[in-house]
Amino acid sequence: MACCGRSLDSPCTLALLIGFQFAFVLYFSLGGFKGLVSVLVHTTEPEFDYSRPHDVYTNLSHLGAPHLPPRNVGTGPPPTAPLLKDCQIPSPLLVGPVSVHLSSSLSMEEIRQRNPLVQPGGRYRPPDCEPRHHTAIVVPYRNRQTHLRALLYHLHPFLQRQQIHYSIYIVQQWGNSTFNRAKLLNVGVREALRDEDWSCIFLHDVDLLPENDHNTYTCHKQFPTHLSVAMDKFRYRLPYPQYFGGVSAVTPDQYMKMNGFPNLYWGWGGEDDDIAARVRLSGMKIVRPPVAIGHYKMIKHKGDRGNEQNPRRFDLLKRTRLNWRADGLNSLTYELLSKELEPLYTNITVNIGDDPRLVHGKLPNLAKVPQSSNKNGLKQEPRPGNQRPTPAITTSRVKTEQTQVNRTTQRKAH
Ligand SMILES: *[C@@H]1O[C@H](CO)[C@@H](O)[C@H](O)[C@H]1NC(C)=O
Ligand SMILES: *[C@@H]1O[C@H](CO)[C@@H](O)[C@H](O)[C@H]1NC(C)=O
Ligand SMILES: *[C@@H]1O[C@H](CO)[C@@H](O)[C@H](O)[C@H]1NC(C)=O
Ligand SMILES: *[C@@H]1O[C@H](CO)[C@@H](O)[C@H](O)[C@H]1NC(C)=O
Repeated sequence: MACCGRSLDSPCTLALLIGFQFAFVLYFSLGGFKGLVSVLVHTTEPEFDYSRPHDVYTNLSHLGAPHLPPRNVGTGPPPTAPLLKDCQIPSPLLVGPVSVHLSSSLSMEEIRQRNPLVQPGGRYRPPDCEPRHHTAIVVPYRNRQTHLRALLYHLHPFLQRQQIHYSIYIVQQWGNSTFNRAKLLNVGVREALRDEDWSCIFLHDVDLLPENDHNTYTCHKQFPTHLSVAMDKFRYRLPYPQYFGGVSAVTPDQYMKMNGFPNLYWGWGGEDDDIAARVRLSGMKIVRPPVAIGHYKMIKHKGDRGNEQNPRRFDLLKRTRLNWRADGLNSLTYELLSKELEPLYTNITVNIGDDPRLVHGKLPNLAKVPQSSNKNGLKQEPRPGNQRPTPAITTSRVKTEQTQVNRTTQRKAH
């Protein structure tokens, strides 16, 4: 039969439709327009040979010998404050692909010995040059001791080679309630900014290890960055275009602009899509490093107890547009239980309250909160010296979601 049928239900038209559908599926499975272009045209993505990775501790010994100016020279800078040259960009110590050990047989003490320049609290500053980037790495955490050791073993040498000033914060959820990753991230950002004027904040899952040190832990000036674009779990591709989970980064300004992260996602899933939606709703977009650079390995593990899939995640996501100005940085309440400087990390232990599903059997209806009520919170600068924001922002005493609802209801009444 010739393919020239005129009526819609002819087999030819059908075949044509199926053909188009197939083309569309192919188009999107290749990652949309960009994927198509990179398949057809040879793009200039950097290339790395991941089959021959370097040891993650390569070049670290070069860091031990700071090139200080000679002392006792009258014209030289005083020895207490040597004038350092700006660190080179990119760092000359980078090696590209590094090998990843998904578990570390070393104890914390042994890892510390391998990283002698790391200061208590997991802090580091290049000894021989003035860093241009100041990055806090915030890791939501509970009961993953072996993952934590693997992460610290890997991340410390990885970051030192990048010649940035950084600190690693572990934000540990106290108690047995359902895990709440996004709220822990909010706490981590707040507490990190109390310590220092970080120019960049990394939101980092404990089980993801970067494979290429050209993936620098720095922020884009304008837009939030998503770093873990190529995870082994997803066969080294972005699982879907708006994916923002795993490892991402924001500047304090970007964080303010999107009112931080949601506090209402208890359990696994959804919160990263909510954060991606906030990026969009606040007029920003997500930027990413090339796939060839953003390689990560994930430590395999069984589902966590206390981090079951969140059955409400799709409902919540539908309401992000209505909720994002009311729920986030400006509605964050928690009780800081301790902040300890461990040799390789800062341990923040926090009571973030209970999953309301476990306590009240139903959730507060935050969708009703008027959007105009929280403008002040959005404009706050999170500088340590400028911490006089609205009461909702500074409170670090226990407040359940329930009292939060009462407060917002009161606001509405005004
Ligand atoms: C870092 O290590 C690589 C690979 O071993 C080497 O080629 C490079 O010269 C080293 N860089 C420095 C600054 O020593
Ligand atoms: C968490 O659960 C464990 C074991 O069921 C219990 O011993 C512990 O007291 C609980 N912790 C809190 C803070 O409720
Ligand atoms: C963090 O500190 C708390 C409170 O001291 C402690 O119970 C917990 O084991 C510490 N966690 C880590 C990962 O160091
Ligand atoms: C908040 O509202 C609930 C229900 O309306 C009420 O039971 C509770 O006592 C209120 N809490 C405060 C602190 O006002």
